Amino acid sequence: MAFDSIIRGGTVATASDTFSCDVGIAGGRIAALGHDLGEAGRIIDATGQLVLPGGIDSHVHISQPSGPGIVMADDFESATRAAAFGGNTTVLPFCMQERGHSLRQAVRDYHAKADGNCYIDVSFHLIISDPTDQVLGQELPALIKDGYSSFKVFMTYEDLALSDRQILEVMSVARETGALVMVHAENFDAIRFLTDRLERAGKTAPHFHGSSRPIPVEREATHRAITLAELIDVPVMIVHVSNREAMEEIRRAQQRGLKVFGETCPQYLVLTEKDMEGLNMEGTKYVCSPPPRDVASQQACWEGLQQGVFSVFSSDHCPFRYDEQGKLAPKGRTSFRWVPNGIPGIETRLPILFSEGVVKGRIDLNRFVALSATNHARTYGLYPRKGTIAVGADADIAIWNPVREVVISQDILHHGSDYTPYEGIRVTGWPVTMLVRGEIVVDDGKLVGRKGAGQHLARDPVTPPKMTLAQ
Ligand code: URP
Ligand code: ZN
Ligand code: ZN
Repeated sequence: MAFDSIIRGGTVATASDTFSCDVGIAGGRIAALGHDLGEAGRIIDATGQLVLPGGIDSHVHISQPSGPGIVMADDFESATRAAAFGGNTTVLPFCMQERGHSLRQAVRDYHAKADGNCYIDVSFHLIISDPTDQVLGQELPALIKDGYSSFKVFMTYEDLALSDRQILEVMSVARETGALVMVHAENFDAIRFLTDRLERAGKTAPHFHGSSRPIPVEREATHRAITLAELIDVPVMIVHVSNREAMEEIRRAQQRGLKVFGETCPQYLVLTEKDMEGLNMEGTKYVCSPPPRDVASQQACWEGLQQGVFSVFSSDHCPFRYDEQGKLAPKGRTSFRWVPNGIPGIETRLPILFSEGVVKGRIDLNRFVALSATNHARTYGLYPRKGTIAVGADADIAIWNPVREVVISQDILHHGSDYTPYEGIRVTGWPVTMLVRGEIVVDDGKLVGRKGAGQHLARDPVTPPKMTLAQ
């Protein structure tokens, strides 16, 4: 028999084309695209369905140390299971160096947590919090060579923020090694100043989180991150962009020919600062950074997605529970200052983009594929093995029912959090069957995959190509 499986009767879409054809799979890869492919060990009927590249979520936090008394709600088992149910076949979690610790050891620790526990493929980015001479001179270049070819730096957070000088140092390593630098762009000193002032005025409720990091805080840091990258002449990805002013900084840099890339996330399309105003501490469920803004900012983020300023759409899944180990921890510290930043979204990213984007006519299906899979693979060195449907690519496929109507609710999700910030949102279109390297992980909404089948992917350093709308 020529094929292990054939996906028959579906409409295939890539980042550039939409066509009707069957997909023949052999040895975990796509072996043929066409009609009348003959016999196979397994026929997967996709009549009336969309056959898309499996989603790649290039910004997720899993099992990340989060401070005393706070436990992240997902481990690699629950996060990759939830990701699969949400239409994903690869995720890129962060491996965080803690200050005073070795980066190499952090990678070993993350492998110990992930290896043997994943349902879908994973590939680690690094987080650099302590760029010592040892890290800059040895550990980081060696790890990049070993396939950890992207890393994130923070311009804010007590235990993570780097100085401009330190950012220039790590960017220099990226330039020498071909790694991609991801930047969390918010001005730390401004946030500290505003937070202290709000607290002195007794303004400690969760929604003051938004007041402590207003748009100029993000715009200024975005501009500065781009400037630092320009000085070193290195590509940079500005992650989780929330508003027009930061988006326009990125657009201007792109128009000047700089290799500056942008990412936005579901929380900036469908949540606003009003969500943080819930009764009692309910608003903590929406606390993330940058914070959700207003309807005009949502519109700006859509424009960024439509016009190609943003090339990737990620979840920034950073899951905490709404209990004393999560959003309400540590006990007695009631100010927004102590609420762990981050919200769950690994399973809801793609249904939200499909429904709000494709179904509502804001983006077409090919742009959806680019934003959800192809551009992530191109940006982070996984293309063409991942992120497309083409002969020779891994058979990482998501079969979607494009008309299924679902009301998002905690009851139907598979993540480790005890809530979803997207509760009650009605979506049209839902991923039903996912294959990773030709093996079915979720079959018509039922988990059939094996924990441990997901592999860690080493990535080559790559300078991301400029991504036009067609890509
Ligand atoms: O609030 C957020 N975004 N938490 C996750 C960590 C980060 O900055 O990406
Ligand atoms: Zn961040
Ligand atoms: Zn993040």
